[in-house]
Amino acid sequence: MRRHTRLIGAAAGTAMLLAACSGTLEPGQNEGDVLHLALNQTETHPSYIALDHWGDYLEENTDGRWTLEIYPNETLGAQAEALQLVSDGSVELAIVSGPQLENLNKDFIALNLPTTFDNIDHQMKVLADDEVVGELFNSLRETNNIVVLGGFTQGNRSVYTTFGPVETPDDLNGMKLRVQESELNLAMAEALGASATPMAYGELYSGLQSGVVDAAENNEVSYATQRHYEVAPHWSQTNHLVGLDYLIINSTMLDSMTHEDREIFMGGWDEARALHVELWLEATDDSISQAEEDGATIHIVDETIFDEALEPLVDQFLTTDTQLEVYEGARALSEKDVE
Ligand code: GCU
Repeated sequence: MRRHTRLIGAAAGTAMLLAACSGTLEPGQNEGDVLHLALNQTETHPSYIALDHWGDYLEENTDGRWTLEIYPNETLGAQAEALQLVSDGSVELAIVSGPQLENLNKDFIALNLPTTFDNIDHQMKVLADDEVVGELFNSLRETNNIVVLGGFTQGNRSVYTTFGPVETPDDLNGMKLRVQESELNLAMAEALGASATPMAYGELYSGLQSGVVDAAENNEVSYATQRHYEVAPHWSQTNHLVGLDYLIINSTMLDSMTHEDREIFMGGWDEARALHVELWLEATDDSISQAEEDGATIHIVDETIFDEALEPLVDQFLTTDTQLEVYEGARALSEKDVE
């Protein structure tokens, strides 16, 4: 059995030595390893809790041969760095947001558009449909040594600001809106009337506090777990997009697993995904209550104004055959279209 240790340089420039792995990376021969997972959320976030459950499942069902070590709070770097670490094999797994994958393969845009998903149920249906997402999820294997194993919902994203409610895009005029780092997200900010400022998630609290940005958009759970409401106390319920996080794995590690272990690995992941949806709904309600108790104001606004403002992005960004195929495949699973 080959022994290997890994030295990774984390984003902040600090080099850190992750635990030595003991498995072989020969295809189909690896009977156990330590899997490191990069996450940008806190330990109280549903993604951490569901992944932690997966780790327990894995350990129990392989008699401790496989273990999962989760590094939350961007300890291994922001998502752009985590993506690189998974690609070069220094870290085996990461959760990254849709826009990050769009930067590697524009076809992922099909699942990042504001009009792709109606709601979480629809999103889960799409993720479970291999005909729609199968090729896309394997499309980074040759180019980046990355395979997408599935996704966690980000729920509905809404706008929040340091200065007051956003009832129409005019209210964002001249304001700097933090967005995730991708072309589509830059265009989205502009369509929402703002001036776009791409920024890593972990920098956002201080960005809002110092006035580098005036606004951001995210789900209720991030608003609360990152305590953004402390520095941006105006939440406007725009529900402009159902976001998607992906679980990615280094393909050499995935291929190294024995057939039996891979079945256990994926079985545990299925449980984690189901648990995540349950936790998500609860966490969304709790997050809004927590933010309100701590002084945030929730503004109910006319969502259709924002939907209309973002609608043109579909034609603007869906340009390749694959994008259209994935997008139409996803839309075909919408109950709205079936009616
Ligand atoms: C959500 C999402 C993260 C993403 C973040 C962001 O919290 O779950 O994956 O990084 O939004 O806006 O950057």
